[in-house]
Amino acid sequence: MSALLTLTRPDDWHLHLRDGAALVSVVPHSARQFARALVMPNLKPPVTTTAQAQAYRERILEALPADADFQPWMSLYLTDTTPAAEIERAAASGVVLAVKLYPAGATTNSQAGVTDLRRCRGALEAMERLGMPLCVHGEVTDPEVDVFDREKVFIERVLIPLRRAFPGLRVVFEHITTQEAADYVRQAEGEIAATITAHHLLYNRNAIFQGGLRPHWYCLPVLKRERHRSALLQAATSGNPRFFLGTDSAPHARDDKESACGCAGCYTALHAMELYAEAFDAAGALDRLEGFASHFGADFYRLPRNAGRITLQRAEQVIPASLPFGGRELVPLAAGETLGWRFVG
Ligand code: NCD
Ligand code: ZN
Repeated sequence: MSALLTLTRPDDWHLHLRDGAALVSVVPHSARQFARALVMPNLKPPVTTTAQAQAYRERILEALPADADFQPWMSLYLTDTTPAAEIERAAASGVVLAVKLYPAGATTNSQAGVTDLRRCRGALEAMERLGMPLCVHGEVTDPEVDVFDREKVFIERVLIPLRRAFPGLRVVFEHITTQEAADYVRQAEGEIAATITAHHLLYNRNAIFQGGLRPHWYCLPVLKRERHRSALLQAATSGNPRFFLGTDSAPHARDDKESACGCAGCYTALHAMELYAEAFDAAGALDRLEGFASHFGADFYRLPRNAGRITLQRAEQVIPASLPFGGRELVPLAAGETLGWRFVG
């Protein structure tokens, strides 16, 4: 096996960059490896309008290192009151690529999310008409539903009825974590795709509890049991273009994670491609990494594939114990552990 792996430059179709000093700390990590990213809108307050998305995009561009070659694509945060006219503005803007559905209360900064999709009819009709994809955080928030079942129940209660009501709506099922989600995306009719994170390919839920409670392995949707991890790995390495890369790298300051009520989110942007390479390598499927990381997402979003290339080298490196995060500290996923791959450039 060659010690070097060269691929078309990849894109990250699900990324949290935050804002202000935190943004300045993390955006160089994504810009080093990826040509483009779809930036999530769950700021405080959320990015609900095209004007806010344009202003956030300018802040991201300003935060980039001078030599960076990185294009942020923006997403709008869907609310109960998003008007169809806002979707039309977004589609015409040239900077907004998708709209994000956060069920209210499902995850970090989702308080302003959708309480009932029936309230979003006008916006969803406009999206269906304009070909604007809806990216979904696919978990129900019903407290009666076990946290490990929330994605599976979302498919039955929300996703299937939504796609029946809007059959032309283009949907991305974000950061899928279960066999049921992978099966649904593989078999469903119409335009649907899914992103898969590196951490859901590498770890099952035991990682959260190994030797004690490990908050840096806690994210939403939460890691699931091994049967699901192996189904996701099978989907990601299958060559099916409905499955593509989205890191869901979600930085939180160390003290917000190592807390009595720790925030959800794993930080993977610094070594994203090395982590995916580990997962694909373990599955004997390194030849499938390029499609997943560099082709299928661009194709779904109807954007050209990137012209540049990157190289990964089979060489060990240790993930740092912590990183600067504004004036605070950020602990990357698997801090202190050794990776078998290294991003060369
Ligand atoms: C994300 C965050 O911190 O913004 N957290 C996470 O656990 N993935 C939000 C999200 O994508 O659910
Ligand atoms: Zn996310």
